[in-house]
Amino acid sequence: MKILRLLAKVVAGVLVLFALTLGAVYFLSSQRMSVRCDVDPASIVTSDDSTTLALGAHIADIRGCTDCHGPDLRGRTSAAGPSWTIRFSEP
Ligand code: HEC
Repeated sequence: MKILRLLAKVVAGVLVLFALTLGAVYFLSSQRMSVRCDVDPASIVTSDDSTTLALGAHIADIRGCTDCHGPDLRGRTSAAGPSWTIRFSEP
């Protein structure tokens, strides 16, 4: 019977650790997801010179943005996805 009692304590300990870990992950991810950044759109500097545009196209290409948003970033329909995927980055 002692072994059963010990086993019950170990299982209870593992469950408590699991619950604490779950709670910590939930708390930390909730905190990160609730971060809001105030950005003044007027403060964003844009440029349309060819060098900057080429760099942006390169970044969109190597980061995989064009995989989902299409080669010209106008949006793309996902053949396999549900209907909401049709909205992929539509302007
Ligand atoms: C795995 C597919 C996928 C990839 C890769 C991807 N996106 Fe998206 N993106 C989406 C989807 C889905 C949406 C949501 C579209 C909607 O809700 O209409 C979206 C929305 C956006 C939006 C609009 C966000 C908003 O709040 O309106 C921007 C901007 C954007 N993506 C930029 C990028 C950039 C930059 C990259 C590359 C670094 C990128 N995306 C890579 C799928 C992707």
